[in-house]
Amino acid sequence: MRIIIATIFPEFVDTVRRYGVIGQAVESGILQIEVVNFRDFTSDKHRVVDDYPYGGGPGMVMKPEPFFRIHKHYSERYGKPFTILTSPQGVRFDNKVAQSLSQKENILIFCGRYEGVDERVMEVVDLEISIGDYVLSGGELAAMVICDAVSRFVPGVVEEESVKKDSFYNDLLDYPHYTRPAEFAGMEVPQVLLSGDHGKIEIYRTAESLKRTALRRPDLFVKRDFSEQEKKALIWLIRELIGNAE
Ligand code: ADE
Repeated sequence: MRIIIATIFPEFVDTVRRYGVIGQAVESGILQIEVVNFRDFTSDKHRVVDDYPYGGGPGMVMKPEPFFRIHKHYSERYGKPFTILTSPQGVRFDNKVAQSLSQKENILIFCGRYEGVDERVMEVVDLEISIGDYVLSGGELAAMVICDAVSRFVPGVVEEESVKKDSFYNDLLDYPHYTRPAEFAGMEVPQVLLSGDHGKIEIYRTAESLKRTALRRPDLFVKRDFSEQEKKALIWLIRELIGNAE
């Protein structure tokens, strides 16, 4: 899969392709992440990317021309990309949106800036995405978040097992994790994790996921269609609560 990110801060955005599992996937060729500077697609000597808003008002607006030129350039090179504009007015980004985007062959993400983007750019935008109800000073961080979360769903970037166990994959929060030492500063790792009984460990982890989800995200918990394993875990949890766990 290829993700192209258009920005006025290419050095900043470039960090998304250099670290951790995403860095390794780029290195091994599973993922192509290209970062492009809007200024390289301007046609004036000063490489101007913004201008005053028609009708007046505060701030500057990003000019349409570089967006159209970038879209045309990459469409000719790789075929028409699925095109995203980061904006607080967009649809809310979540794991489901990330997973569906990971099915696309080419994605182009335009990082919005300043007070906004000339509305005519929407002609080439397939989806406006917001990463939350707050205003960032630009779309770069949003584009990096989208790029990272989408990449995790691309086969080979992380182990499939890890993705399935991630919080939200299944509308369930992740269970708690522990590593050595078994006792640290007087705090112990739950006994069941040291037992070597994989059946019990699975039930415990499912129960912990359900407990966290119920406490932190009751909205997800109440609409859940519980699997047989989850029902077993819930019974285990209730027994544990009344001091009768087996
Ligand atoms: N640009 C500014 N704020 C944003 C947000 N919350 N999500 C996506 N892009 C943005």
